[in-house]
Amino acid sequence: MINDTFAPLVDRFGRVHGNLRISVTDRCNIRCFYCMPNENIRFKPREEILTFEEITRFVRALARVGIHKLRLTGGEPLVRQDLAGLVRSLSQIPGIEDLALTTNGILLAEQARELREAGLQRVNISLDGLSEETFRAIARREGLERVLDGIFAAQEAGFDKIRLNAVAIRGLTEAEVVPLGAFARQHALELRFIEFMPLDAENRWQTEQVLEGSEIRRLLEAEFGPLEPLPVADPSQPARDYQFIDGRGRIGFINPISQPFCHDCNRLRITAEGQVRNCLFSTAEWDARALLRGGATDEELIGLVRDCVREKKIGHGIDTPDFIKPERAMYQIGG
Ligand code: 5AD
Ligand code: SF4
Repeated sequence: MINDTFAPLVDRFGRVHGNLRISVTDRCNIRCFYCMPNENIRFKPREEILTFEEITRFVRALARVGIHKLRLTGGEPLVRQDLAGLVRSLSQIPGIEDLALTTNGILLAEQARELREAGLQRVNISLDGLSEETFRAIARREGLERVLDGIFAAQEAGFDKIRLNAVAIRGLTEAEVVPLGAFARQHALELRFIEFMPLDAENRWQTEQVLEGSEIRRLLEAEFGPLEPLPVADPSQPARDYQFIDGRGRIGFINPISQPFCHDCNRLRITAEGQVRNCLFSTAEWDARALLRGGATDEELIGLVRDCVREKKIGHGIDTPDFIKPERAMYQIGG
């Protein structure tokens, strides 16, 4: 019999999973309405959150079956004490080729250099608009100036690719599209617009609030001229990228609602408390923490993840009548 313990993580639809998103905390220093509740939040107690040693152990096991891209998320990952320490450990794991971070940028000015030196390769910074008013309406806290400082600090720290993520919301961010485009062009940053998904803690999401990528594209083209599609380097990446005809600025669209990209998804997630998920919209979880704390072997950890991958559905089904919104909101999953 062939021993296939270390075979790649392939699901029933042939999707090979090489990409792991690791949430390091459910806490955050702002309160974006599309993700978190504004108050009365019950964060997970510290003892339930995976330690850096546990995260590293988990990744080390999965690197044996082809996980090679990592992204740290939250909540807000930079509120976790000594995140650079985790980056240092993860960057040394054989087989890990790409190590990235998604942050709201508020604490980035203080940490950018340290993270870079620890081996972090790329950063995505959330920036939904450039006006204080929009920032306050979305984040329900102050902080725009600090985010901008964080972006410039990341540039100074020498990150290769810095990307801005803008969640697009109808009735709220239309007027931000062109200023964001101009900002990205001026500072040579990549900009991605993300359609609002039903992952908000307050259950307010409505289809009507989805500002589609196609509409944003029209707003940008009216101001800056035609956008040309760029070749797709990696089919599993959710964004479709474009370039302005004058060569200044790259814009990507992540359209989970209007153009689902589940057919090429190669992503797995682990929540801050060590629950493995095969989708943002997954309604089931696999308990890696119990194994990690119960002295499991690499083979057992891999087996658990393999079970999770085997159960992955073909798509999120947001547009189908039997769609069930996951119990967890974005901050409890990791974006
Ligand atoms: N829909 C779309 N994007 C979201 N994000 C958080 N919540 C949502 C949502 N409901 C984004 C954040 C961040 C990334 C982790 O996901 O703005 O850029
Ligand atoms: Fe915090 Fe990110 Fe959620 Fe906003 S989207 S509340 S920054 S975790």
